[in-house]
Amino acid sequence: MKIAIASDHAGFEQKVQLAPWLAEEGYEVLDFGPSSEDRVDYPDFAYKVASAVAAGEADRGILVCGTGLGMEMGANKVPGIRAAAVQTPEFAELMRAHNDANVLCLSGRFVALEVNEELCRIFLETPFEGGRHAGRTAKLDRGCMVEPRVQVVRHPLVAHKLSILRGKDTPTKLFRELIRELALFLGYEATRDFPLEDVEVHTPLETMTGKRVAGKKVAIVPILRAGLGMVDGLLVLLPSAKVGHIGMYRDEETHEPHEYYCKLPPDVDQRTCLLVDPMLATGGSAAMAIEFLRKAGVSDVRLLSIVSAPEGLEEVLASDPTVRIFTCAIDRCLNENAYILPGLGDAGDRIFGTL
Ligand code: PRP
Ligand code: URA
Repeated sequence: MKIAIASDHAGFEQKVQLAPWLAEEGYEVLDFGPSSEDRVDYPDFAYKVASAVAAGEADRGILVCGTGLGMEMGANKVPGIRAAAVQTPEFAELMRAHNDANVLCLSGRFVALEVNEELCRIFLETPFEGGRHAGRTAKLDRGCMVEPRVQVVRHPLVAHKLSILRGKDTPTKLFRELIRELALFLGYEATRDFPLEDVEVHTPLETMTGKRVAGKKVAIVPILRAGLGMVDGLLVLLPSAKVGHIGMYRDEETHEPHEYYCKLPPDVDQRTCLLVDPMLATGGSAAMAIEFLRKAGVSDVRLLSIVSAPEGLEEVLASDPTVRIFTCAIDRCLNENAYILPGLGDAGDRIFGTL
C-alpha cells in the first residue's frame, strides 16, 4: 500500500518520525514535504497529499499539523477525499469502518507520537464495512447533493430575474419576458451534456477544426398553458427542435391533473424531450406528462421548471426512475390550495393576463 505523507512546520517533528516508521511497517511512503521545520502554510501540503490520493497515485494519505484540523479542512476541499482529524483509536477505527476515510489528519502538538502511530496502524488496517454506509459515502462524494437527478441553476442573473418574476406587481409583459429568459438559462444547463463532433470551419483567414452538436434531435414539449411561455426562449437555443404540446389543467378542488390535449412529433421516440412548465407544485401534471412521453417511447426526458416545490420534486422522482429535473429554485412548500410558497402565484394567469 502506498502512503502519501506531509506536514506543516508544527507537524514536521512527528512527520519525520512517522515516515520511516511506516516504511519499517512495510508501506511504500511518498513524502510530500516539507523538508525542514521552516514555517509553511498547511493548505499547500494538505493539497499535495489529497491530490495524490484523489489521483490514485497513493492509496491513503497522512497529514500532520498542530491540531490536525487545518489539514482536515484543506484535504476535504479536494473532490474524492474523505479526511478526518482523529485523536482516539475508536475514532480512527470508525473513520475507516463507517466513513471509508482515505486521509488521516493528526495533531503533532497535542497527541504523543506513540498514540499517533497507533492511530496510523488502525487507519491503515481497518476495512470499510460498506453496506448501509456505502450510500452515505457516495452522497459525500457527490458534495452532499442528495438527489443527483435534480439540478438547481445557480447564477446571479437567474436569482435577480427570479426575484422580479415573483413580485406581485410585475406587469404581464415583463413577466412573460422573464419566463422566456429564465427558460434560456434552464435550457443552457439541460443541454450541457450534448455530444459534440468536429467540423471544418473556413474563417476569413484560415481553416480550423471547430465543434458542432453531434446530431442530437430534440423535442420541446410545453405543458399547456403556462409551459408555452418557455418555448420561445428554448427555440432561441435549439432553433431546429420540434415542438409537441400536452394540455393539462389542475382540478381546483382535488388538485389532480386532467389531460385535454396531446400532440407530439411523430418521431418523438428518437428525440431528447425537454418537458417544460414554469411550476412544479404537487408534481401531478409533470408526472402524468412524463408518463405520456414514456408511453410514446421517449427514453430521455428532462423536465425544466422555473420554480419547484419539494413535494413536486419528490413525486416526479418517485414516479419515474430516470427523468432529470432542471429548476431555478426549490421553494419552501405548498399551501393548502397546493400553491407554491413563496412561489409566484398562478403562472398561466400571469403569463396570459387572465388573473
Ligand atoms: C399549473 C402549472 C402546472 C401545474 C403545476 O397549471 O403550470 O402545469 O399547475 O401543478 P401540479 O404540479 O400540482 O400539477 P394550471 O393547472 O394552473 O393550468 P394553466 O397552465 O392552464 O394555468
Ligand atoms: N400552479 C401555479 O401556477 N402556481 C403554483 O404555485 C402552483 C401551481
